[in-house]
Amino acid sequence: MPNDIQNPLSILVLHGPNLNLLGRREPGIYGSVTLDEINRLLEEEGRKRQANVSPIQSNHEGILVDAIHSALGRHQGILINAGAYTHTSVALRDALASVALPVVEVHLSNIYQREAFRHHSFIAPVAIGQISGFGAESYRLGLQALVHHLRKSSDGS
Ligand code: DQA
Repeated sequence: MPNDIQNPLSILVLHGPNLNLLGRREPGIYGSVTLDEINRLLEEEGRKRQANVSPIQSNHEGILVDAIHSALGRHQGILINAGAYTHTSVALRDALASVALPVVEVHLSNIYQREAFRHHSFIAPVAIGQISGFGAESYRLGLQALVHHLRKSSDGS
């Protein structure tokens, strides 16, 4: 079967609440890397893999829902760190299920090593998979996994 997936790929990267403060926010947990640095890392990784990344950060649930809706027809996959909304937001989960694009969920920290309220993710059931605990590397690994999934599903294997 011919490879009919768009090349380069276009990936929506969503960063949820408080991630704009990365670098100064609880560095013992989230490290010293800033959101700009993470976005640059993703851009670089995307370039190597013929994937354009479009990052959006918001502290507002509805803006994230709108961003997910706007991915339809524009992006082939979504990489998301929903921050605290991971553990609370049925609306984000439903938005991801509605657009039915491949989703990879990422977290800087290992959410399963932390407080019990972080152990449940509303995003996980609508994601291909989840990468948690590798700091900024979680994003790179997540992008690799998403691109791999998109290319694999388009070549029929
Ligand atoms: C986080 C983990 C969440 O529990 C937390 O609310 C965040 C960041 C992470 O990347 O480790 O804001 O998603």
